[in-house]
Amino acid sequence: MSRVAVLEGGRSLERQVSLRSGARVQDALERLGHDVTAIDVGADLVARLREVAPDVAFVALHGRDGEDGTVQELLELLGIPYTASGVSACIRCMDKVLAKHLMRDAGIPTPDFYSFNETAFKELGAAGALPEMEERLEFPIVVKPAGQGSALGVKFARTPADVPAALVAAFSYDRKVLLERHVAGRDLAVSIVDLEEGPTALPVVEAVPREEDFYDFEARYEIGRTDFVCPADLPADVAAEAQRLALDVYRLFGCFGFARVDLMRDAASGELTVLEANAIPGLTETSLLPQAADAQGLAFDAFVARVLDLALARAGAAA
Ligand SMILES: Nc1ncnc2c1ncn2[C@@H]1O[C@H](COP(=O)(O)OP(=O)(O)O)[C@@H](O)[C@H]1O
Ligand SMILES: [Mg+2]
Repeated sequence: MSRVAVLEGGRSLERQVSLRSGARVQDALERLGHDVTAIDVGADLVARLREVAPDVAFVALHGRDGEDGTVQELLELLGIPYTASGVSACIRCMDKVLAKHLMRDAGIPTPDFYSFNETAFKELGAAGALPEMEERLEFPIVVKPAGQGSALGVKFARTPADVPAALVAAFSYDRKVLLERHVAGRDLAVSIVDLEEGPTALPVVEAVPREEDFYDFEARYEIGRTDFVCPADLPADVAAEAQRLALDVYRLFGCFGFARVDLMRDAASGELTVLEANAIPGLTETSLLPQAADAQGLAFDAFVARVLDLALARAGAAA
């Protein structure tokens, strides 16, 4: 039995999802017989951690602070073992621009893109280069903030006239944005869990929007507007290739414990490309990783137990 602090909530835009992930993790940890304290992450985080003095922290945070390495850095400083990826892997996952450069350099297919920060537009006249970007990426184009999740700020630009508003929306979430080639095709996700035999790709999940021609990515995340199919209805070799790519990304970014990689499959060419990796994907009842684990026969409690064991083993190895 360990004293476990479940870190949840926080100030990120994904606070509500995190509270649900955290509650589910708490229940599992209690069933496993641990002494569990939930900490809603805020200004008193360090004080609370000193007070609770946990043997290990289960990080059930999503988005800014919790998934970008900030909380992990504090846990390192305080010498508290914690679940999932370390600081540098979190940074690589959270910054989509960095992630895409790393993938491109490593030969992992990712949709073409250009990225700019706000100062490029404000101080360097980057708007004047939009026609070149648009010509190279071809319409439609997807515009998104470098660091966000749950499709927040992800916009679809059908024509040049749509680009300025899409940029404004993306810049409202982050000082850095990317313009990415749109992939017309299927939306896939592969979760990875580090099992006894090493990092293992779970069955592919497909997100199927209920409405045709559905380009409001944010709305897709609302419950009931998207169906999730697991295992996705794919030829065996395509599923295996998606799993192989996801494992490559997991290793490239140096993830630990578990993660989820989002991909697209081009309807016309069949090509698979990687959009991004999530260092702490959702762990709610309806989240993709738990669904995929279920399809693999890995119960949620067993998943939580494994992730906790790994966190303690990593700390032991470092000591
Ligand atoms: N280049 C793209 N082509 C087609 N659809 C995209 C593209 N980029 C994002 N999307 C859609 O938006 C969703 C969210 O984008 P993603 O890059 O995974 O960011 P996040 O999940 O962090 O918000 C994807 O799952 C997909 O449905
Ligand atoms: Mg995603």
